[in-house]
Amino acid sequence: KRENEPIYFDEKSGQWNAFLYDDVSYILSNYEQFSSARYQAEERDPFGNSLLFIDPPKHKQMRDLVNKSFTPKVMRSWEPRIEYISDTLIEDMIEKTTIELVNDFSMPLPVIVIANMLGVPTEELHLFKKWSDQMVEGDYNASEEEIKITREKYVNTMKELFHYFSEIINHKKNHLQEDIISILLQAEVDGKKVSDEELIGFCILLLVAGNETTTNLITNAVYTLLDEQDSFYKLKQNLQLLPSAIEEVLRHRSPIQSMNRKVKKDMEFRGVQLKEGDLINAFIGSANRDESKFLQADQFMIDRDPNHHIAFGSGIHFCLGAPLARMEARIALKKLIESFPNMHFSDDMEIQPINSMVVYGLKKLPIQ
Ligand code: HEM
Repeated sequence: KRENEPIYFDEKSGQWNAFLYDDVSYILSNYEQFSSARYQAEERDPFGNSLLFIDPPKHKQMRDLVNKSFTPKVMRSWEPRIEYISDTLIEDMIEKTTIELVNDFSMPLPVIVIANMLGVPTEELHLFKKWSDQMVEGDYNASEEEIKITREKYVNTMKELFHYFSEIINHKKNHLQEDIISILLQAEVDGKKVSDEELIGFCILLLVAGNETTTNLITNAVYTLLDEQDSFYKLKQNLQLLPSAIEEVLRHRSPIQSMNRKVKKDMEFRGVQLKEGDLINAFIGSANRDESKFLQADQFMIDRDPNHHIAFGSGIHFCLGAPLARMEARIALKKLIESFPNMHFSDDMEIQPINSMVVYGLKKLPIQ
C-alpha cells in the first residue's frame, strides 16, 4: 500500500494522507510549505496558540524560551525524583497477583512526573489526570453530534485549566522555586518574557503532549518484550541494551502515529496537486516501517543500528520532551524488569487497542 499509493486523498475526512519516510519527514520539517497553524484557534485559546500550533518567527521565540526549562541539566536533576516515583508505584504492585500495567504504572507515572515538574500540589493529581484525558478525547469515527459534545467539553476543560493555572502562576510569582513554571517566569530571550497566557498554554501542552504518549511508550515496550521472548531474554541478560530497545519500540510501535499540517500554497507533491488550506496527515508510524529506510522494517530488532526513526517528529517542532520521555521509559523499564523478571501476559489477556488514528497504545495490559 505504502509503495503503491504513497499519498492519497481520503474522501471521508477530506484530508490527504502521506506514508513514505521521505515525504513524512519533509512535511513535518518543511514549515515554509506545510504550516503547523492548522486549526482556526480562537484568540483566547491558549492551547490552540501554543508551541505545537505556531510557525516561525513566533515559534522560534517561544521555543527558545521554553527550551530553558528542558535543558539536559534540568532533566538530569529530575532523575532521582522519577526513580522515587517509579519505586513507590512498584511497591504497590508487588502484592498483586495480576497487575494491570496501564492503570497501575504506565499511566500514573508520567502524570505524577509532570505534576511534580510543574510544581503543583500532589493532592490535585486526580484533576491532572481528568484534564489530560478530556483533552485527548474524541474518536475518529465520531458523528457530528458527538463532535459537538466533545467540542463543548473541550471549551469547558479549557476554562477550568485556564483558571487553575492562572491561580498557580499568580501564587508562584511570589514564591519562586525550582519547578518549570518558576523557571519560565524568570526566563527571557532578547528581553522578551513569557506572558501569563503563553505560560498557561505551555502548561496545558505539556499535559497533553507528555502524558498519554509516555504512557503508551512504556505500555508498548512491555507488550513488545512479552511478545518477543527472545528479545526479552537478551535484554534481561544485558540491561545495557535498554536505550536501543526503547528506540526500537519508538520505531516499531510509535506512540504518535500521525501529525498533521496545513498546505500553505498550491503545489505539486509526489505527483498530486495540493491546494492552499488542504490538511495533510503525515503518518509517522508508517514512515518508521518504510522498507527503503529500515531493513526488515516490520521486525522488532532490539539492537537495531542505525535507527533513524522519526517517532519524535522532525525539524523545528521536534519533541521538546524527548529526553524526558526517554529517561522516564529507561527508569520505568529497568525497575519493572528488575522487580518482575518473570512477568508474562495474564491468561485472560484481551488486547484492547486505543481507538485513534493519532495515538497508538493499549487501554489495558494485564500481566502476571
Ligand atoms: C512535539 C512525540 C513525549 C512535549 C512532539 C512531536 C512529536 C512528539 C511527534 C512533533 C509534533 C509536530 O511535529 O507537530 C512524542 C512522543 C513522546 C512524547 C512519541 C513519548 C514517547 C513528550 C513529553 C513532553 C513532550 C514527555 C513534555 C513533558 C512536547 C512538546 C512538543 C512536542 C512541548 C511541541 C514542540 C514544538 O512544537 O516545538 N512530540 N512526545 N512530549 N512534544 Fe512530544
